[in-house]
Amino acid sequence: MNELALLADTAGLEVVGETTQKLDRPNPETYIGSGKVEEIVALAEEFLANVVIFDIELSPRHQRELEEHLGADVKVLDRTALILDIFAQHANTREGILQVQLAQNEYRLPRLTRAWTHLARQAGGGGGRAGSVGGVGLRGPGETQLEVDRREIRRHIKFLKEELEKVRAHRQRYRAQRKRSRIPLISLVGYTNAGKSTLLNQLAKADVYVANQLFATLDPTTRRIELPGGNNALITDTVGFIQKLPTQLIAAFQATLEEITEADLLVHVVDITHPNAAAQAQSVEETLKEIGAEHIPMIIALNKIDRLPDPAAAQQALQTFPNAVAISALKKVGFDELLQLVNAELFENYSRISVQIPYTEGQLISLFHEQGQVDRIENTRKGVFIQGSLPGRLVARYKPFEAASPDTGAPDEEAESFEESGKNQ
Ligand code: GTP
Repeated sequence: MNELALLADTAGLEVVGETTQKLDRPNPETYIGSGKVEEIVALAEEFLANVVIFDIELSPRHQRELEEHLGADVKVLDRTALILDIFAQHANTREGILQVQLAQNEYRLPRLTRAWTHLARQAGGGGGRAGSVGGVGLRGPGETQLEVDRREIRRHIKFLKEELEKVRAHRQRYRAQRKRSRIPLISLVGYTNAGKSTLLNQLAKADVYVANQLFATLDPTTRRIELPGGNNALITDTVGFIQKLPTQLIAAFQATLEEITEADLLVHVVDITHPNAAAQAQSVEETLKEIGAEHIPMIIALNKIDRLPDPAAAQQALQTFPNAVAISALKKVGFDELLQLVNAELFENYSRISVQIPYTEGQLISLFHEQGQVDRIENTRKGVFIQGSLPGRLVARYKPFEAASPDTGAPDEEAESFEESGKNQ
């Protein structure tokens, strides 16, 4: 509930009251019980509230029923709608704006019975960029008008999907270019407000927007940094994670999140001063699993240690998180250790692996020679079998081809085998 209040605040709303109810199962009509509905109607009247937010995902029916009880002057929102609104206010790049518009339209389609104007406008919060993102003004007085509106939204959804495809194709080309340049990529991940943008700014002297608000960052920003020993790496900021991220939003931001799976290393920023730090870190790790990023090497940066009353608390926290360093992004404390660890993960920690790589993946074969150490190599009809070691950051790419021994398919007369020794950089 505290987080919901912070979300409301970020959306430009002022929280005037709150209430909870324990239920065995949701009421089919109003989600909450009828007595609770009456209580909320009375509270809304007393405080002159014009928005009521539920910390769950309401079905279109629940939302309609609740709106009927609360009257025309009170808007009923759920967590998804609130987060969508915040995303709309914070999206900056073309892709971010398109993603939010798409998610908003998909959210609205089944709920199209009442005007759905932009929250910021309703709250008198100026709206700014968000107003223009909100788009379609929807009023559905009669059945026919409603149909027209629905068709209009469907057409808009189709247009947005096509535009997104174009933006993504462009980004794919950029990604391919980066892969060729072989500069390792570090992705900053973490719960919203953990301090990712601050860390990126301080490490790379970038000018990324920092705010004590949820979801200040919606679009990835990439910078180049120099590591101890003169190695270079790219570092990128990602969207803040949050518990109970509505499924629609996960879908909408899938592409942005997938960028994370391209990273060679993750730096997971945790606000160690937050009372729910452990739960937040866990929900980030769950989301990482969902998007298939769990095998990427990860360093945990326990942030904001300057705010800990007792410096020993940082030491204690370090014990509970693996591969962690304690830092203050704001005060630039612990940066040497963090960068040493990053450097070690990217350029020093080698893992042993044996793989059978098909000839169609020639790139991977040459990359192994360039960046790893080849101990044994065998050409078979089915591909190249290599045994050796690779820097940790590359291991994930070779995982799909792991093989204990060469697979020749059929007896292979021409197969050559030779041993190689020494590092083949
Ligand atoms: P999202 O964009 O919401 O994902 O947030 P973020 O993880 O990028 O966090 P951001 O860098 O915007 O920081 C959030 C707030 O925490 C800001 O008010 C920062 O000034 C503050 N903050 C970040 N790092 C530190 C730190 O090391 N110490 C202290 N005291 N405050 C910090």
